[in-house]
Amino acid sequence: MAGKVLSLLPPLVLAAAGLSGLLLLCVPTRDVREPPALKYGIVLDAGSSHTSMFVYKWPADKENDTGIVGQHSSCDVQGGGISSYADNPSGAGQSLVECLEQALRDVPKERHAGTPLYLGATAGMRLLNLTSPEASASVLEAVTQTLTQYPFDFRGARILSGQDEGVFGWVTANYLLENFIKYGWVGRWFRPRKGTLGAMDLGGASTQITFETAIPAEDPANEVKLRLYGQHYRVYTHSFLCYGRDQVLQRLLASALQTHRFHPCWPRGYSTQVLLQDLYQSPCTEAQWPQTFNSSARVSVSGTSDPVLCRDLVSGLFDLSSCTFSRCSFNGVFQPPVAGNFIAFSAFYYTVDFLRTAMGLPVATLQQLEAAAMAICNQTWAELQTRAPRQQARLADYCAGAMFVQQLLSRGYGFDERSFRLRLCQVAPSQGASPDAQRSRCMGSSHVLGLFASWF
Ligand SMILES: *[C@@H]1O[C@H](CO)[C@@H](O)[C@H](O)[C@H]1NC(C)=O
Ligand SMILES: *[C@@H]1O[C@H](CO)[C@@H](O)[C@H](O)[C@H]1NC(C)=O
Ligand SMILES: *[C@@H]1O[C@H](CO)[C@@H](O)[C@H](O)[C@H]1NC(C)=O
Ligand SMILES: *[C@@H]1O[C@H](CO)[C@@H](O)[C@H](O)[C@H]1NC(C)=O
Repeated sequence: MAGKVLSLLPPLVLAAAGLSGLLLLCVPTRDVREPPALKYGIVLDAGSSHTSMFVYKWPADKENDTGIVGQHSSCDVQGGGISSYADNPSGAGQSLVECLEQALRDVPKERHAGTPLYLGATAGMRLLNLTSPEASASVLEAVTQTLTQYPFDFRGARILSGQDEGVFGWVTANYLLENFIKYGWVGRWFRPRKGTLGAMDLGGASTQITFETAIPAEDPANEVKLRLYGQHYRVYTHSFLCYGRDQVLQRLLASALQTHRFHPCWPRGYSTQVLLQDLYQSPCTEAQWPQTFNSSARVSVSGTSDPVLCRDLVSGLFDLSSCTFSRCSFNGVFQPPVAGNFIAFSAFYYTVDFLRTAMGLPVATLQQLEAAAMAICNQTWAELQTRAPRQQARLADYCAGAMFVQQLLSRGYGFDERSFRLRLCQVAPSQGASPDAQRSRCMGSSHVLGLFASWF
């Protein structure tokens, strides 16, 4: 893919941000003869754990065609991600109906036929396509069948590659922060001369890192050249399949069962029944499959609150032993040194935010992040419950999540302890702060990494 030029120019931009991934799609410019009015676009962001629908709007007039796309409304699809309907594909289509009905109401009726509708699926469907290409094709067929029953301009339902996902996330983030283009007070578009921010996304099934770099990629799969608003960008990107939060938790549980029969990352006093079929159905846990197991059996697994064993378990996720390039992140994947400022979103945010707010721990440096992970992993179930009584469902997994995030950033991506500074920002779209204000509030001057809960 070296030299691939994605021209995302004036056919500007529909951006969708979800918890489990981001999509960015181009809206082809047509000769617009309609009177100035609003145009709409609908994006279904089909992540591994859930699907979100976003309705966007932007001014239809020419000048503002390069303009700012705003979010009009959104809808969370009830139930799991579309990949969870492998055994019942028509259920995947059916699950979208409620949100699509909302879209019918949100977009003015006379605009329905001219409103593009896309569905982009991410790593959950990439995994399903690995284990069962037939099942993933049936799921896509089923959602296509549902989507074509609506009066919108359906443009397709497809599985995004990891590279697409990483680059879309990067473009979306920088677009929303107006790093590419900005509408100035003099009433003209200009290009702000600030650099771009690297983007890190932690979804349910995969994690992406994407940043601008001057260093040519030694592996062409990691390089994308983009032309945006007349500027050229050389972008490094990589998506690690099976390194999303949910898959990491499954892999850690599988290796805990394999090596300990208990879970050092779970809190002492916590225990649960694990259905082996659920644990071993993912291709991500394949390396930990026992030779034989009874898939309908359940095993009882208890936590031991052992920070040191947990840290060791997590470090087993990163293979630093082999690299055929001049430098690698992990698992033999080429990566130039991380450079510039970064933003991280989705599960990165929720993980670090928990350490800070529920645990009251400082998380500005990598060392603090590590100490915080050790501290949360040293809590008993009863202690955790008193700290975050309303977060029962995910509480037992914050230790593993925090350990993973800390190691991914340090051992994995090679962030430098001296330059690393972390800040958390909750960007609330409706509260009206301009992207600039949000950016400066979040980034400060010396901060390498900002964490955002959501965009807009
Ligand atoms: C384009 O957008 C700007 C800013 O949102 C607005 O002030 C201007 O009136 C728009 N231009 C037209 C022709 O509608
Ligand atoms: C599933 O994976 C195969 C092999 O990588 C690929 O050719 C195919 O396009 C994928 N299916 C979909 C629906 O993307
Ligand atoms: C597998 O586990 C189920 C549920 O515990 C049990 O009913 C069944 O007898 C087991 N099968 C074998 C072959 O052990
Ligand atoms: C865990 O907490 C105990 C006290 O509750 C402390 O003695 C121990 O050093 C802690 N261990 C780690 C690894 O932080």
